[in-house]
Amino acid sequence: MTPIYQTSTYVQSAPGLNKGYEYARSQNPTRKVLETALAHIENGKHGLCFSSGVAATDAVLRLLVPGDEVIAANDMYGGTYRLFTKLFEKMGIKFHFINMQNAENIKPYINANTKLIWAETPTNPLMNIIDIAALAAIGKPKGVLLCVDNTFASPYLQNPLDLGADIVLHSATKYLGGHSDVIHGCLVLNDTVLRDQLYFIQKSVGAVPGPQDCFLVLRGLKTLHVRMDRHCSNGAVIARMLRDLPAIGQVYWCGFEDHPGYATAKNQMRGFGGMMSFTLKDDSPEAALKVLSSTKVFALAESLGGVESLINHPATMTHASIPREERIRNGLSDSLIRLSVGIEDVEDLVDDLRQAIG
Ligand SMILES: Cc1ncc(COP(=O)(O)O)c(C=O)c1O
Repeated sequence: MTPIYQTSTYVQSAPGLNKGYEYARSQNPTRKVLETALAHIENGKHGLCFSSGVAATDAVLRLLVPGDEVIAANDMYGGTYRLFTKLFEKMGIKFHFINMQNAENIKPYINANTKLIWAETPTNPLMNIIDIAALAAIGKPKGVLLCVDNTFASPYLQNPLDLGADIVLHSATKYLGGHSDVIHGCLVLNDTVLRDQLYFIQKSVGAVPGPQDCFLVLRGLKTLHVRMDRHCSNGAVIARMLRDLPAIGQVYWCGFEDHPGYATAKNQMRGFGGMMSFTLKDDSPEAALKVLSSTKVFALAESLGGVESLINHPATMTHASIPREERIRNGLSDSLIRLSVGIEDVEDLVDDLRQAIG
């Protein structure tokens, strides 16, 4: 097994002459093995690990300078939105939050200052699908970088670099780690110059993961394919079951043939995953709270992608940092409930949701 190099520094052969490693903020052998593995599974040349998914996002944004503009999806993880609007906006970066379900929508927002397109697909929590190749085809000729947050799909189901993205981001806290026991983030890319810029940011800022955390993600990667197969099959059963329940309003899952992004999802993904969300016919927050407090197998918690099933209320939990008007405008209602379907016996999951929803 890859050892956990629990060390902050490395003995050198002579002043100025090291054996490949000098100080663990810059390099660590356990981290190096993970960075290489992550690059392989995303079909990329370079991997870079960070202490969290948002630290990886932060590193990408640090490529920009005041006056630069970013086109970002209007439906994405609340913490990414918070980082963009509360920290980078005041540093002079301008953000346009756009509905990217039609990639053409971004065209009017591209100008000489546009440096980055930021997309997440499937989106969190509404499971909208964004056509990665179409975004790349629009941005690339104008020299605009495309970064895709691939956390929801995982590299087992989707490889954005193959579709033209320049950078792939993961919150490895989720499917890559897979066991809800580590906070970790990573970037994977092909361009060596860009890699060197991001490596410089990584070591200068120092938001790096410890070796134990890298070991846990490495261990998670070994079962990613087995877990994802089960997340997908359990997810399909749960999504279809929910749709048939009389109390359910709408179910958002990209594996439904009538989902607006189905054709694109089928084209760019190898499966539909275990993430979904739904509303109740009774759209009151009280009705949602009753369901959220009645499940026994689905644990009420933030996060996703672990082996255990989780239930979440985006309005008060993962997406609370998005102002209510903005949330509602983007279809994220007060009663919306998000599920991360785990790998348990699917009958237990079905029974649990049936008794909680009624
Ligand atoms: C899609 C997505 N991207 C990024 C992040 C941030 O990752 P982390 O929590 O590891 O910082 C999350 C966290 O929930 C997420 O869901």
